[in-house]
Amino acid sequence: MKEPQAFGQALQAKLEKFQAFKKPIQLGSIDFSSRLLLAPMAGICNLPYRLLMEDLGAGGTVSELISCHGINYGNQRTLEMLKIDPLEKNVGIQLFGEDAEAMARAAVVAETYGPKFLDINMGCPVNKVVSKGGGSALMKEIKNLAPLFEKVRSQIKIPLSIKIRTGWDASTLNAGEIIKIAKESGIEWVAIHGRTRTQQYTGLADWNFIENLNEIKKLPLIGNGDLHHPYGVSERLQNTQCDALMIARGALRNPFIFIESLDPSYANQKRSIFTGNDYWEVIQRLYFYVTETFPEERTSLVQLRKLIVWFAAGFPHAAAFRSQIFTCQVLSDTMKITEDYFKSLGDSQKFINYDEVFMSSGHG
Ligand SMILES: Cc1cc2nc3c(=O)[nH]c(=O)nc-3n(C[C@H](O)[C@H](O)[C@H](O)COP(=O)(O)O)c2cc1C
Repeated sequence: MKEPQAFGQALQAKLEKFQAFKKPIQLGSIDFSSRLLLAPMAGICNLPYRLLMEDLGAGGTVSELISCHGINYGNQRTLEMLKIDPLEKNVGIQLFGEDAEAMARAAVVAETYGPKFLDINMGCPVNKVVSKGGGSALMKEIKNLAPLFEKVRSQIKIPLSIKIRTGWDASTLNAGEIIKIAKESGIEWVAIHGRTRTQQYTGLADWNFIENLNEIKKLPLIGNGDLHHPYGVSERLQNTQCDALMIARGALRNPFIFIESLDPSYANQKRSIFTGNDYWEVIQRLYFYVTETFPEERTSLVQLRKLIVWFAAGFPHAAAFRSQIFTCQVLSDTMKITEDYFKSLGDSQKFINYDEVFMSSGHG
């Protein structure tokens, strides 16, 4: 797609304020532009959203989980999900499945779409995936892992990574063992969500567990879980032994989290410099990416609406705005309502209630 229109001067100046804090890192053989990466999210981390998050400072991104069987059957919708835009810089494709042969065949196809790396989903807790032996069920049968990793590894040229949980349940916290197998099988780095499969999204991510894994330090490690606000991310970034951190849900309500977390003195203020006008600019860019990606108006509307509503979270009258936008079925009208709302916010501050449970389900 063509380059989007540049952000206005005011927003650009704010974004640049954080540039000096952005430090590139290398994981395995890949360079990422920051230690803060966007975590994969099904139904969310599609091409437009990934592009936007990279524009707003994510050091790298990962697609939503994509079925190896869907790829192998040539399912059109699945193949659409593999698409990457040349504007995307550091993007990986995540595959899920349970069978080494099928995963390897799908990996060959996925590689032709031009990602920088491929990732294997080993964290999805959803029954539909787990009951077939995929997602976090892969962590249960660790004897099958070396053959799976080696088979996929042998069929592709780009780096291969995995995303795991701490274990299946509290009595089988086998992430350390899996990391050892991964290293011996040619995996280049590991992302870990600090919960077990049984926990799904309940309780808190176990950061002690994640930090202790760094002591065995077999492979570069990306820590993930409950990094929802800039001050929490900033603190973790300063103290963690992890090479990088991944943020999922935090980026939905605060798309600026990747940069706001980089400057500790700023992050600790707990107040954002980004106004309703800045959000409106970001939404216009998202609109450009979404409509360039999805020619069908209905698809664009559905994709945009959910993200716009999350971006509004914490601003005054967000609930009324949400009801208004969800009753509108026309894309141009939706954008007009959105423009009016965000422009009306003036200098209002966004206050997100982080104690409230937010999105307690997902595929990893
Ligand atoms: C809606 C949603 C969809 C998700 N989809 C995926 C996925 O496709 N693949 C994956 O590995 N993890 C997936 N996850 C898990 C996240 O990547 C992340 O591990 C988890 O949300 C914890 O991080 P957070 O506290 O920053 O949200 C998903 C999470 C959510 C909330």
